[in-house]
Amino acid sequence: MPASSPRKSNGVEVSSFVNNHNDTYPHISPAIADLSGKSMLITGASKGLGKAIAIRFAMVDCSKIALVARSPLSEAEKEVKAAAAAAGHPEPHVLKLNVNVSSEASVRNAADVVSQAFGGSLDVLIANAGYSADWDHPLAKSDPSEWWKTWETNINGTYLSARFFTPQVLASSLKTVIVLSSVGAHHIYPGASSYQTQSLRCAGLPSFSTRSTMQRGWWPLPSIRAESRRRWRRRCPSNCARS
Ligand SMILES: NC(=O)c1ccc[n+]([C@@H]2O[C@H](COP(=O)([O-])OP(=O)(O)OC[C@H]3O[C@@H](n4cnc5c(N)ncnc54)[C@H](OP(=O)(O)O)[C@@H]3O)[C@@H](O)[C@H]2O)c1
Repeated sequence: MPASSPRKSNGVEVSSFVNNHNDTYPHISPAIADLSGKSMLITGASKGLGKAIAIRFAMVDCSKIALVARSPLSEAEKEVKAAAAAAGHPEPHVLKLNVNVSSEASVRNAADVVSQAFGGSLDVLIANAGYSADWDHPLAKSDPSEWWKTWETNINGTYLSARFFTPQVLASSLKTVIVLSSVGAHHIYPGASSYQTQSLRCAGLPSFSTRSTMQRGWWPLPSIRAESRRRWRRRCPSNCARS
């Protein structure tokens, strides 16, 4: 690969401090979880990781599952219900929502629909919907609208999902928010300036959810929890009353 290729990366350096995990392990096995009576919503559920995650929630008896995407969700719904049946669980209440996560009106409306259908409480929100412009063009040759579409979907979509579903998450017992980011946050592929910069921002966003809601007992991501607590104590003790 020529040195100027937009796909040449710093992968070797990143591998020296990032551990890759390519399989499940007992601690996260569906066999040890039980989400009966709980609710979840996942954006980007029509295919890929989003559909696979929804199926795993069905396997652990999650009772209410909201699937979000722009394209039809009937196939995903069928697979979710089949996974619940195969695991010997009752059929979950599956809500299909055709939503554009980068549209404020669309996400706001979805939050109202979910609130009515699930009784105002949402245990798990997973902001998974994503888009990536191609990785073939360095920044100076990139297509501006494609570049920004990645941020519109991944950053604005994650922000709007957190913004409009947080009240329902706070009303639940699990109070869990998961944001899909990427190891790309650590990488520099010259052709991936849009995707890899948004990965870094996506990874940081939950810290702000934590910051503004921790007073209500909500600690969104285990991996960020310790760091947030440290920062909270170090920098913000006098701000507690203002949060
Ligand atoms: N695959 C990987 O290797 C990998 C690695 C690291 C991180 N990730 C992250 O994991 C997430 C899922 O990746 P994936 O590979 O499964 O992606 P994918 O197969 O391309 O699926 C993307 C999903 O997002 C939905 N989506 C895209 N734009 C949307 C919009 N504006 N509104 C609503 N839904 C939208 C798509 O549905 P519609 O088109 O029907 O709307 C689809 O369901 C992404 O956030 C990605 O950055 C993936």
